[in-house]
Amino acid sequence: MTPIRKAVFPVGGLGTRFLPATKAIPKEMLPVVDKPLMQYAVEEAYAAGIREMIFVTGRNKRAIEDHFDTAYELEAELEAAGKGALLELVHSIKPDDMDVFYVRQPRALGLGHAVLCAERLVGDQPFAVLLADDLMMGRDQLQGGPTVLGQMVDAFARSPGTVLAVQDVPRADTRRYGVVDVRGATAPLAEVFGMVEKPHPDQAPSTLAVAGRYILTPAVFESIRRQPRGAGGEIQLTDGIAALIGTEKVQAFRYEGRRYDCGSKEGFLEATIDLALANPDLSASVRAHLARVMG
Ligand code: G1P
Repeated sequence: MTPIRKAVFPVGGLGTRFLPATKAIPKEMLPVVDKPLMQYAVEEAYAAGIREMIFVTGRNKRAIEDHFDTAYELEAELEAAGKGALLELVHSIKPDDMDVFYVRQPRALGLGHAVLCAERLVGDQPFAVLLADDLMMGRDQLQGGPTVLGQMVDAFARSPGTVLAVQDVPRADTRRYGVVDVRGATAPLAEVFGMVEKPHPDQAPSTLAVAGRYILTPAVFESIRRQPRGAGGEIQLTDGIAALIGTEKVQAFRYEGRRYDCGSKEGFLEATIDLALANPDLSASVRAHLARVMG
């Protein structure tokens, strides 16, 4: 049994980097191949043993709630038409042993604020946070290996405390991420001595950037509450975690796998191509198409 039972999905953001697609639908509902980003993240949490999913939503996010709800008309039609496989596919989006909870983030005040909105629903236990626009693929996940969050839950079981998924990024890109200081440690799980949100490349403590997967302890709530507005004028999760260093164990975890930044067009297209090539029904035709295009 996993020690992590709850996952928080902050989905209140506006998705301005993906306009006009995200004018009327949430960015987390954009599909990669045939599945919305949100579903990839929820499946990753489920595969890690988590059964309580907490969505921190905002205006314009109705489609997410509908996606994880029953679709009576659709299900009745599929049943009447004897389309059992499709019916099963629709049912599998929310397995019976999974619970979904919603809380509204009334104003987009930042990621730290979004996490704080889930405090009552999380209660006094460690929990995961997944940013659905980071699509994560564990190295052997498609062959049945662990997801990135699954790897982190294992790391947490071995060494309880905050666990942050990190990856190496080009120094020029540090201003897009939370960046950690592990004092040169190279082990997959390393103690964090400092952490800063979106540092200028000249000021970044390292090139180890936080990807959108966290295991946090309940102490982070009080810590976030004490933070003034940080980078971009927002209440930053990074600042809340950084303030715990010295009081609690904060660890960076170099996961095995790949992150696709699906909040950006490049990352979204890379994910689409890679997952299409990995899909047995599509790979031959996509491969042939790419070969033609590349000439
Ligand atoms: C957020 C976090 C940042 C993290 C990033 C990962 O930033 O604030 O620390 O590195 O997600 O995707 P955002 O992408 O929301 O600007």
